[in-house]
Amino acid sequence: MDLALKGKVVLITGASRGIGAGIAQAFAAEGSKLAICARTEEPLLQAKKQLEESGAEVLAIPADISKPEHASLLVDQTVSHFGRLDVLVNNAGGNRRGNFEETSDDDWEEILNLNLKAHIRVSRGAIPEIKKQNAGAIIFISSIFGREAGGKGLSIYNTTKAGMNSLSKIMAMELAADKIRVNAVAPGSIRFPGGSWDRRCIADPEGMAEFIKREMPLGRFGTVEEVANVVTFLASERASLVTGTCINVDGCQSRSLI
Ligand SMILES: NC(=O)c1ccc[n+]([C@@H]2O[C@H](COP(=O)([O-])OP(=O)(O)OC[C@H]3O[C@@H](n4cnc5c(N)ncnc54)[C@H](OP(=O)(O)O)[C@@H]3O)[C@@H](O)[C@H]2O)c1
Repeated sequence: MDLALKGKVVLITGASRGIGAGIAQAFAAEGSKLAICARTEEPLLQAKKQLEESGAEVLAIPADISKPEHASLLVDQTVSHFGRLDVLVNNAGGNRRGNFEETSDDDWEEILNLNLKAHIRVSRGAIPEIKKQNAGAIIFISSIFGREAGGKGLSIYNTTKAGMNSLSKIMAMELAADKIRVNAVAPGSIRFPGGSWDRRCIADPEGMAEFIKREMPLGRFGTVEEVANVVTFLASERASLVTGTCINVDGCQSRSLI
């Protein structure tokens, strides 16, 4: 399906591997121009090369979005390179497991900064630029564990993703008049080579087979392409009435009714 994203400039945080890299590939297939970032330069340049091989124009920005000065540099460099910004995908994120009682201020600060505050800063920088285009989209990569209890040991991750969903909704209300649609995508367990689920499957194949039987109604993990398909749809005018929502991409893994 042609999503009419050709020539649109898309900034994706954390796109050197995994879900972010899959999202970048999906936009490249639509003919979009891409600005991608990650902290580690070599895999970032590798991702840029792969995207260029699919014909995309790509700007790779080595940056740590949890540093305020790096976060603001992303939009500046994207706009000075491509001259505009149409879509922002706030994807980079991390986890810190542990019993709540044992979590430290540093644990909270690190993940709050990466999963929430960094996206707030990048979004604030992006909004004036997207407004200039008279239409655009901001998409947050959340988690089903922002909509329901992920379980013990996940207080930090769950809190940051729930906060992200709230933020996304209020931004959608405020930005509707500017024709900027804001949505969140909540993946379930997504497996890709080298990713966290892949490592767990290799370390504990029997335990993971049990996990799939118990938690995954489709009988398998999700793929980065399946998440990316929803993200490109949300970025496109095909989703013109879709704003202020959070869409699960989880094969019915989530038990939430909302
Ligand atoms: N995988 C899943 O099953 C799953 C499920 C639900 C939600 N999610 C969410 O989906 C998003 C992507 O997950 P993933 O599994 O693809 O993660 P991942 O494999 O850990 O990849 C994260 C990407 O973000 C970059 N990154 C990490 N910290 C960064 C920072 N401070 N500044 C800039 N870039 C940074 C990484 O590169 P560097 O390390 O080089 O910086 C990498 O490119 C996350 O928000 C995650 O919470 C994932």
